[in-house]
Amino acid sequence: MNTSVNAQEGSTTKVSSWNDFDPLKHVIVGRADHTCIPPNEPCSEAKVPEDSDMRGMWGPRPLETVEKANEQLDKLAAILSELGVKVDRPTPLQWNQAVITPDFQTGSMFGCMPPRDVLLTVGNEILLAAMSFRCRYFEYLAYEPLLSRYFDEDPDFRWEQAPRPRLSDASYKAGYFDEITEAERLKRTAELNFVTNEREILFDAADICRMGKDLFCQHGLTTNRRAMEWLQRHFPDLRIHAVNFPGDPYPIHIDATFVPLRPGLIINNPDRPLPDKQRAIFNDNDWEIVDAARPVHNSPPPLCYSSVWLSMNCLVVDHKTVIVEASETRQMDQMDKLGMNVIPIDFRDAYPFGGGLHCATADVCREGGCEDYFPKQTRYTQIKH
Ligand code: ALA
Repeated sequence: MNTSVNAQEGSTTKVSSWNDFDPLKHVIVGRADHTCIPPNEPCSEAKVPEDSDMRGMWGPRPLETVEKANEQLDKLAAILSELGVKVDRPTPLQWNQAVITPDFQTGSMFGCMPPRDVLLTVGNEILLAAMSFRCRYFEYLAYEPLLSRYFDEDPDFRWEQAPRPRLSDASYKAGYFDEITEAERLKRTAELNFVTNEREILFDAADICRMGKDLFCQHGLTTNRRAMEWLQRHFPDLRIHAVNFPGDPYPIHIDATFVPLRPGLIINNPDRPLPDKQRAIFNDNDWEIVDAARPVHNSPPPLCYSSVWLSMNCLVVDHKTVIVEASETRQMDQMDKLGMNVIPIDFRDAYPFGGGLHCATADVCREGGCEDYFPKQTRYTQIKH
C-alpha cells in the first residue's frame, strides 16, 4: 500500500508539533477499512449511551458504511494535500480478530479511523498512548509502518511507547455501569469517579490538549491521574495540567469540549464548561474562552459513539484557517465571526468510525516551536506544584 498521498520522491520527514493551531505541514488521516463494533468489555459500556442503537451489537461494520466513510476520509486527505499539507495514511489490520493476552481476552479490535486517540505528538516525539480499552490494545500496529519510516527519515524523531497496561479486571471498578442513570453519570464526572481506577497508567492521546509548554489533560473515563503523573515525569520540561468538565456524562476525549483555535482563543462546549478555578490559568494569561456554537443536529448519525458536539471537533490548519463539517452551519458562522476562514467538508459518514475531523487526524509536523503561552501559573490545575 502506498502510505503517502503526496510525498515527493526523496522527500524526508520532520516530526515536530507543539500545538493544534500552528501552520500544519504533515498529518496522518485515518482509514475506515475493516472497522468493527467491539463487544462489551469493562470500560466500553462507558462509551455507549443507554438509548444507543449500538447496545448489544458487535462485529464488522457494514461494507457500504465503510465505503462511504472512506470516501470522506479520502476527500479530507485530498483537500489537505491541495493545501500543501503532506498526508500519510495508516495500514489497517483485519480488525475482526480476537485480542488475547495473559490478562484478558476480547472478541475483536476496533479500527484506525481516529489516529488522534493513539498518537500524541509532542515536539519531535510521537508517544503511543496507554489506552484503557481492551479492543484497542493492538491498534498502534496500524501506525507502525509510518513510525518506522519517520524513524528512518528523521534522525531527531523520538518514537516512544507509554507503559503497556495489563487491563485485567483489577484495572476497572466492578459494577460501575450497573443500572447507572444519566444523572448519576454527571454526578460521578463531577466527583472524578470513573470506571478505571488508579492501579495502572491509562490514557488516550485525545484526552490531551497540547499548547506548547503546557499540556491540559482531561481526567475522565479514558485517562486517569496516574497517567498525568507519568506524563509529568516523561516530559519534565513541560507542565501537565488536570482539567475536567462536569457537564459531560461521557467524558472521553477533550476535542469535542475544549478546542483551541489560535494562541489566546479557545472554544468551550457550553454544556461542559471548564470550572471557574480551572479557568484561572487562562484568565491570568489573557486567553479568551468562548462558548462554542450549538450543533445543528439533534442526534449523531446511526451507530456513532460520539455526541452531537463533534460539531466543534474541527481541524485547525493555521491561525486563520479551519476545516469544519459542512452541515454545521452555526459552528461555521461562529468561526467566521472569530476571524477564521472556514473550509467546509462533508464528514458525517465518517463520524461512526471514531469521531470528527480532529479525531480522524494526528499531527506529524506543524511550523513553530515550544512557546510558553501561560507564563503565569496557578496551582489549581498543575500536577506538579
Ligand atoms: N466524547 C466526545 C463527544 O462525543 C468526542 O462529545
